[in-house]
Amino acid sequence: MKGTGFSPYISSNRNRAGLQPPRHGSLKASDQKPGPLNSLDSRPEGRPSVRPGPTRLGILLSGRGSNFLAIAQSIRRGRLPGVEIAVVISNVPDAGGLKAAAELDLPHAALVSKSRPRADHDADVIACLQSHQVDLVCLAGYMRLLSPQFIAAFPNKILNIHPSLLPAFPGLEAQRQAFDYGVKVAGCTVHFVDEHLDHGVIILQNPIPVLDTDDAQSLSTRILAEEHIAYTEAIARVTSGAYEIRDRRFVPKMAPGGSQR
Ligand code: GRF
Repeated sequence: MKGTGFSPYISSNRNRAGLQPPRHGSLKASDQKPGPLNSLDSRPEGRPSVRPGPTRLGILLSGRGSNFLAIAQSIRRGRLPGVEIAVVISNVPDAGGLKAAAELDLPHAALVSKSRPRADHDADVIACLQSHQVDLVCLAGYMRLLSPQFIAAFPNKILNIHPSLLPAFPGLEAQRQAFDYGVKVAGCTVHFVDEHLDHGVIILQNPIPVLDTDDAQSLSTRILAEEHIAYTEAIARVTSGAYEIRDRRFVPKMAPGGSQR
């Protein structure tokens, strides 16, 4: 955190979320567990230096943070073994998700973006993520486009969730866009982030039917419930490392014998 002008953040060893405390510096051998990060690192694209141990998530959010909380709950309930939350960062200081991170005693930081050049703000966020040894960045309602420098700092290691079946209805108020268009099937998408809006390689999509009784609000509520399931599943797939990217296709690797790993 030194010399980057970060706002104060809180870290604690006590952790009501049941998550791992923050770790700084190099890991001791006694700390190291074989973990999915090794598989993540084994991917040819964008590999960082090998650092055994849990896969460390950096969560970026701007609002209420229900997707962040769903991820935290999945970790606590053992649905994402070998995964821990390293830091939660918000560009909005009074974001509900940031308060929730504080209540869970997770390391968190408010890095205000307002009135700052994108490159300067992104440089601070990158430095904060790196200082917390983040392996995988999860955008969870982070209302900012990432600069090319940000994408380059975490190649194929930034995920986003979007409340539509992309490429339909990118951008803001996707649920309302879908409802107003009259689609019969809506849903959510988890995808890698590239330099274009809501555009990167799709990891998974969860569809839901639009009911005749729906309005835009009820549809949003049901999509959000699906998002909470989808994000955990997408993180599990990515951190397993058992996939390859063929052109724009995210393809799970098959285990010997033909079953999906
Ligand atoms: C979600 O609908 C997500 O798909 C979109 O922003 C919203 C964030 O909601 N990118 P929350 O803050 O996670 O509750």
